[in-house]
Amino acid sequence: MAARTSLSRIGGRDVFEKAYKFMTADNARAMGVYPFFRPLDFNNGPEAQLEGRTVIMLGSNNYLGLTTHPKVREAARNAIDKYGTSMTGSRLVNGSMRLHNELEQKLAAFHGKEAGLVFTTGYQVNIATISALLSNKRSVAMIDKDDHASIYDGVRLAQAAGARMVRYKHSDPAALDSALSEIADTEGALVITDGVFSAQGEIASLPGIVEVVKKHKARLLVDDAHALGVIGPGGRGTAAHFGLEKEVDLIGGTFSKSLASIGGWLVGERKVLDYIQHFAYSFLFAASAAPPCVAAAMASLEVMQEEPWRQEKLRENFTYMRTELQRLGFELGKTETAVIPIYIRDDLKTVMMWKSLLDDYSLYVNPFITPGVPPKQQVLRTSYMATHERKHLDHALEAFEKVGKKFGVI
Ligand SMILES: Cc1ncc(COP(=O)(O)O)c(C=O)c1O
Repeated sequence: MAARTSLSRIGGRDVFEKAYKFMTADNARAMGVYPFFRPLDFNNGPEAQLEGRTVIMLGSNNYLGLTTHPKVREAARNAIDKYGTSMTGSRLVNGSMRLHNELEQKLAAFHGKEAGLVFTTGYQVNIATISALLSNKRSVAMIDKDDHASIYDGVRLAQAAGARMVRYKHSDPAALDSALSEIADTEGALVITDGVFSAQGEIASLPGIVEVVKKHKARLLVDDAHALGVIGPGGRGTAAHFGLEKEVDLIGGTFSKSLASIGGWLVGERKVLDYIQHFAYSFLFAASAAPPCVAAAMASLEVMQEEPWRQEKLRENFTYMRTELQRLGFELGKTETAVIPIYIRDDLKTVMMWKSLLDDYSLYVNPFITPGVPPKQQVLRTSYMATHERKHLDHALEAFEKVGKKFGVI
């Protein structure tokens, strides 16, 4: 989700003043309708536990259901036993292990790329890669307007070094073409797009984007956080989905979704990754991904390939939900993946529906309201797992129908 916050506009001389004046969250807490930061007792799979109550989880990115897979658990446990809990240092100095290198090679081979680089989070992948590659006044970041917040933050860092940001109309290769036509001959552009957009579940128009990028001799970075394990042959993501893996210069993502861990990855040319690992401050001056996290991601990558039924079941589940939600009359946008946003287009209604789904039907979904999304873009974001059973999905559909009717959305 692209970050849109107006908090910076509140406040005065004292930098804490904006915090003292920020009342929205406190007011919502007092009214019992505050939906965020609620501690789950367990978030093990299609069913989770919230404040002692079992809920059906339609709000997690555990797409393949691997966070509790015996092999993944065992790999994390063994890594702790063997290596301890943390490397307590950056990749550059004392934070690299053969484990990191092994996963880098596996991710590169998986995507048919020369090399891979493992990061501590997916967020770091974007801020590090973008700021390292766009580090002077001749650099231009060309981003889809709906790119993820971490891409925006990477671009902000690049802007501090003099780079320019140009935002093109969402998933529109023609708009990208005209934006690239306007940059000077001396400027170099990196086009950055989510592969699957995190709030919409929509797949980027990659064939058109690749064609335009090639025409202008620019470079392309695709953030496949929500695509790995979800689309493409073998779950290899957006570029593979379109048969364009060779044409995309850099593919990055996170361990925190299908790979059931914490960390991030980037694959591409060895020389480019080598440059990034020597010049990205947010990579150089941050501790490396912890051994159990790397081991869990590596085990997940293996399980993903050994158990292809998971991707097939995930597709069956999200296709069923998309068809049935549309049949009930909900507006879902252009989703083709495991993220299905239900458009409500009103803050209060979104929160009230979220509350009713949770309180009355034990259904856990994520409300996206302003300023997190632009006005009129409020959604109940739902996401699906390979391990959801038909009984979970049918219960959810019944709840959506009742709550949708109650609030006049369908
Ligand atoms: C598109 C996209 N990129 C990057 C990230 C950041 O990944 P991580 O959670 O590993 O920091 C996310 C996660 O929310 C995302 O959705």
